Parts: sequence; structure tokens; C-alpha cells
Amino acid sequence: ETVEWAAESYDMGGHDTFMHKEIAEQADAVDRVLRGRIDDRFATVRLGGLNMDAREARAVRRVKILGCGSAYHAGLIGAQLIEELARIPADAEPASEFRYRNAVVDPDTLYIAVSQSGETYDTLAAVQELKRKGARVLGVVNVVGSAIARETDGGVYVHAGPEVCVVSTKCFTNTAVAFALLALHLGRIRDLSVADGKRVIEGLRKLPAQIAEIVANEDRIAALAADYAQAKSMMFVGRVRGYPVALEASLKLKEISYIHAEAYPASELKHGPLALIEPAVPTVAIVPDDDLVDKNRATLEEIKARSGRILAVAHTEQEKADHTVVVPRNEPELDPILMGIPLQLLAYHTALALGRDIDKPRNLAKSVTVE
Ligand code: AGP
Repeated sequence: ETVEWAAESYDMGGHDTFMHKEIAEQADAVDRVLRGRIDDRFATVRLGGLNMDAREARAVRRVKILGCGSAYHAGLIGAQLIEELARIPADAEPASEFRYRNAVVDPDTLYIAVSQSGETYDTLAAVQELKRKGARVLGVVNVVGSAIARETDGGVYVHAGPEVCVVSTKCFTNTAVAFALLALHLGRIRDLSVADGKRVIEGLRKLPAQIAEIVANEDRIAALAADYAQAKSMMFVGRVRGYPVALEASLKLKEISYIHAEAYPASELKHGPLALIEPAVPTVAIVPDDDLVDKNRATLEEIKARSGRILAVAHTEQEKADHTVVVPRNEPELDPILMGIPLQLLAYHTALALGRDIDKPRNLAKSVTVE
């Protein structure tokens, strides 16, 4: 499986930064990760590079996902998708932690290494340690033929195309979609029904147009960012599916705007971080219209009661929020994929308002190939 990357991908194509170009390219990138993989007849997906037959896939008792930074956050979304769609216990852990803690390596666990570059040293070292101990390791990787792609037993290419900006945007989104495909594949050889398989496939097919719709709303987010750029620090909160979105949005903001940000599960606020809430510390809340919406609304009330300002990313206008960015509805399992996109734009426009060097933030490199 290879994809040719056109030379013009390395050109800004009329955008001011690679980050802006890469955010704008996401509808096409998602279309690419889906292309040729959907099997309507069996309401599943075909992933030719997995090198794992149905019998082997059914024998998997656990899934452990490893990656660093944004790749780790995409892995958290992936673990939830695998649990929800395939009902296999799954979790994600920073590869850098895993490799130093003499983890128990279990032959019935499927390990998955996630990386845009495929060259991140900590992730590669985790793969090598796992292989040495006899584990099966798959890769969810963007760069074809990279070190992690070569050292893994098989995997799913993310097909985001070249990502030049130091901060990850389109690769993060495509990685989450690649995990949805893998989860659907694992689900359909276990207990996920044809009806649910079809439902998720229809949801996946809607993503490119919905992403284009979110990106077309950029001016509204730019106007909000001019205001939030004055913040001393920012809090990002979400529950379950919303929590990895909060983590990734907080990382994005820190990396390019240098505004301090924290991400918490919304339910953890009252266990400490609520002490930080004041008008100069606004909160971004992820509020999908799912079975947790009432809990999330209660969190908004708690923040308001402490005079905190709130920007909600939601499916409907939120009464308690100062501002709401409304995103289109899809299947609930796919909400994290869409809800992250306006927050990439928020980080971008905040950094722009502060005059930061967006494509080359201070102290950071695109791929960390050292320990
Ligand atoms: C993302 O915005 C970061 N710059 C960083 O966290 C990155 O995701 C991490 O270093 C992992 O890189 P990789 O995906 O190439 O392995």
C-alpha cells in the first residue's frame, strides 16, 4: 500500500502557514483514509496491511495503544472506539512511559504504535522492546516506509499526506479516523451488528463534508480567538469521548500560542482545578449532545457560579456558555473527530493574534528522534 505524495504538497498553496493549509486540507485527507477501504456488502472495512486474519483478530483479548503527544491523544480516541465498537478492553499510554516501566507483555494483547513521522524515538523503542518480548505490534503511521512502519508486524497507513507544520492537525484527525476503521473491522468480526456497522459507515462517509462545513466557519472562530488571546491560562474539559479532545486542544494551544492550558475530565474539576477558575482563566468545554449532556451542562453551571467564562463546542447553543461553536451531528462514536477541528482553528487564531511563529514554535521539533 503506497500513496504518492505530490511535490506541491510541500508548498503553502496560497496559505500563510503550513498549519493553516493542513487544517484546510482535512476534508480531502479524511476522504483519502477512507478511500477503497469500505466494504458495503458486509458492512465492514478492508485493511489490507494488517497481516492478521479473522481468527487471529478474534483471539485478541486486549488492546494497548502507544504513542507520544498528539499521537497518544489520537490513541486515546482509538482505545475508546475499539472498546465501543469491538468491545475489546483497550487503553492508550504515552510510549515514553511504557518503555521505562518494565511493562507486563501479554501474548493475547494486541499492541498498536501510533506515529505521524514513524521516527519518534520513544515510540520506536517501545516497539522494539515489545518485539523483543514476542508481542504482536501493529502500526498506525502516516509516513510510508518509516522506521515504525518497518518494525511493526502490519498496520494501517493514515494517508494524511505530508504534514510540515510542527504541530499536528490533519494527521491527528486522520489517525482518529484510521482507528474508527480498525475498530469497525474488529467489531464486525465480533459482535457489532450489520445495522451498527452500516450506521458507522454512513457516519464516516459524512465526515469530509462536515469537516469542510466546520472549516468554512473559520471567521467566527477567529473573532472569538481575538478575545480569548488575552487569557492568563485556559482550562479544557470534556467527559469520556470529550476528554481526549480537551487534551489535544490544550496541547495545540500551548504549543503555538504559549498560553498555559490544562485539560481535565469535566468530572475532575470539583476535585481541585475549580480553584483556578476566575474571569482571566476561561474554560473550553466539549459538550456533545449524547447521554452525558446533562452532566456536562451541570459542569457549565459550576464554572459560571465561579465567574468563569465558557466557550462550548457543542451540537446546540449552550445557554450557560458565553459562546458556543456549533458542530454538525454525526454518530456519537465519531464526535471526537469533528469536535477537535474548531479547536485547531482556535489555537491557530489565538497564536496569530499574539504574533507567534506558528509553523516553528519555540523549543519544538517536528519529530523527536532522540531520547
Ligand atoms: C503535535 O502537535 C506535537 N508536535 C507532538 O506532540 C507529536 O505529536 C509527537 O512528538 C509525536 O510525533 P509522531 O506522531 O511523529 O510520533
